[in-house]
Amino acid sequence: MTQIKGREDAGLYPFPYCRETGGTMARTIDILRTEHVNMSRLLGLLEHQIAKLERADNPNLELIKSITEYFDAFPRLCHHPKEDVIYRRLMARAPDKIADLSDLEDEHADVMTRLEEFIHALDNVLLEVQMPRRQFVEIARNFVVKERQHMAMEEREFFPAALASLKDRDWAAIDAELNDNNDPLFDAQVEDRFRNLRRELLAWGEEVA
Ligand SMILES: [Fe+2]
Ligand SMILES: [Fe+2]
Repeated sequence: MTQIKGREDAGLYPFPYCRETGGTMARTIDILRTEHVNMSRLLGLLEHQIAKLERADNPNLELIKSITEYFDAFPRLCHHPKEDVIYRRLMARAPDKIADLSDLEDEHADVMTRLEEFIHALDNVLLEVQMPRRQFVEIARNFVVKERQHMAMEEREFFPAALASLKDRDWAAIDAELNDNNDPLFDAQVEDRFRNLRRELLAWGEEVA
């Protein structure tokens, strides 16, 4: 996997930039894969905190909250929309190639439903509303497992299908559509809002290294 040029940071893949779409087929898919790497790292950090919570070992609930906020902001506003545009193009160009694929837009809706369930459960925990710990751990783990399964499906089936079937002109059209959706303020806001989360991720990387 290629790192996005100029964005390396202490050996970790950078947090993604919403406007970055690539311009070429390989680069666009490369960026989506890099975004998966980022999300996988956050899921690892989340899993680590869930395990602490399960054994009542001083979990950092605020950190868990930040991770849920990140998933609520970045995939919902940036990552999934990019994949949806590619998916719709693929559907128009090569419907046979996606006949066996799960409907990506439906999957994204399911991902968000599971995230909302997780956020709701976490809010209850933060507000000290009674909720069995086992139930919360189950909801949190379900989110992590399903999120990983979703990304693995995309890596295994969706990205290869897009790479095999879409032509340069399709990627140019995808890029144009994505650029139309750009919000130039978003990157800076994301960077600012999740600076602490990035620090936690770096510290955790050192701890488990
Ligand atoms: Fe996705
Ligand atoms: Fe994805």
